[in-house]
Amino acid sequence: MAFMTKYLLPILVVSLAYYYYSANEEFRPEMLQGKKVIVTGASKGIGREMAYHLAKMGAHVAVTARSEEGLQKVVSRCLELGAASAHYIAGTMENLTFAEQFVTKAGELMGGLDMLILNHITNSPLDFFHNDTHIVRKTMEVNFLSYVVLSVAALPMLKQSNGSIVVISSLAGKTAHPLIAPYSASKFALDGFFSSLRKEYLVTKVNVSITLCILGLINTETAMQATSGVFIAEAAPKEDCALEIIKGAALRKEEVYYDKSIWTSLLLGNPGRRIMEFLALRKYNFDKFINN
Ligand SMILES: NC(=O)c1ccc[n+]([C@@H]2O[C@H](COP(=O)([O-])OP(=O)(O)OC[C@H]3O[C@@H](n4cnc5c(N)ncnc54)[C@H](OP(=O)(O)O)[C@@H]3O)[C@@H](O)[C@H]2O)c1
Ligand SMILES: *[C@@H]1O[C@H](CO)[C@@H](O)[C@H](O)[C@H]1NC(C)=O
Ligand SMILES: *[C@@H]1O[C@H](CO)[C@@H](O)[C@H](O)[C@H]1NC(C)=O
Ligand SMILES: *[C@@H]1O[C@H](CO)[C@@H](O)[C@H](O)[C@H]1NC(C)=O
Ligand SMILES: *[C@@H]1O[C@H](CO)[C@@H](O)[C@H](O)[C@H]1NC(C)=O
Repeated sequence: MAFMTKYLLPILVVSLAYYYYSANEEFRPEMLQGKKVIVTGASKGIGREMAYHLAKMGAHVAVTARSEEGLQKVVSRCLELGAASAHYIAGTMENLTFAEQFVTKAGELMGGLDMLILNHITNSPLDFFHNDTHIVRKTMEVNFLSYVVLSVAALPMLKQSNGSIVVISSLAGKTAHPLIAPYSASKFALDGFFSSLRKEYLVTKVNVSITLCILGLINTETAMQATSGVFIAEAAPKEDCALEIIKGAALRKEEVYYDKSIWTSLLLGNPGRRIMEFLALRKYNFDKFINN
């Protein structure tokens, strides 16, 4: 009972107040006007749709993926739609040197950076896991490690702009599903790393928001082909999905849930985890790491 009144009640009140307050802030497309935004994996799918929304809102966009042809088309369409500027740099995120240099070049082209949207993934056909450890390594490198490298390279610019890191994850980054073990591992890793980083930014007063996006099945060509005849579920539209990601990012939300089922965010919101993280943070003394 003492525990109840000492901890749980204040937490409940604070969280409710927080949700009430954050729900009150309204998204306006002008929030993105003139903002300098990187989108990775933007030659097709959800990444391309995000670039188009950003262009319509008048943002500067710098896009990347491997396919130069795809990126060229995306950039010309972005300019038609009203982007303040649009650039592409083609390369593979298997090459971590490319990843790092891409951010620097994109920052130079746009004259800074407000938002880093990490969206690319290596192709992962559905299959039972047998003994393909090299696929696990490649998936971790492209889907996880390159995200870390890109964030490290972007952080100085994001600190200057009070900017945002947006990490695209999946239901498979919060819950277990068969046939996608390496992909799932890489998406869980993103939650562990970036949610931990968010706590560090809170403690060290780094004003860079981190938005983790949990997506259900979305009707991109890749996903529709991969799941055809195997996974039966209704897919949500990629255009709307892309818009909801940008809204959540602009409002500096910690997590965005986008799925056909309205139960997803309720079931995965995980108040237990939130309460435990809140309580654990009070047990630390950071003096050793923060030199004033
Ligand atoms: N669609 C869904 O159902 C769904 C569900 C949950 C989560 N998500 C997440 O949403 C994000 C986008 O998914 P999507 O369905 O839009 O995928 P997609 O259409 O297949 O797009 C993937 C993008 O990544 C790029 N890419 C692939 N390999 C790359 C590499 N080695 N280096 C650099 N770029 C590479 C691709 O371009 P190139 O081939 O030209 O390189 C493409 O632009 C992913 O993070 C995914 O996990 C999707
Ligand atoms: C990796 O990318 C860098 C920078 O773009 C490039 O100089 C290097 O040749 C690439 N490495 C490989 C193995 O392709
Ligand atoms: C992996 O499995 C395949 C097929 O079962 C087999 O041919 C191969 O030798 C195995 N490789 C290793 C490293 O165990
Ligand atoms: C970043 O936020 C701080 C604190 O609110 C503010 O003083 C500063 O002007 C902001 N910088 C930019 C570039 O928005
Ligand atoms: C962090 O940056 C955002 C966006 O510029 C700003 O609205 C907010 O006031 C800043 N927060 C702090 C604590 O400086």
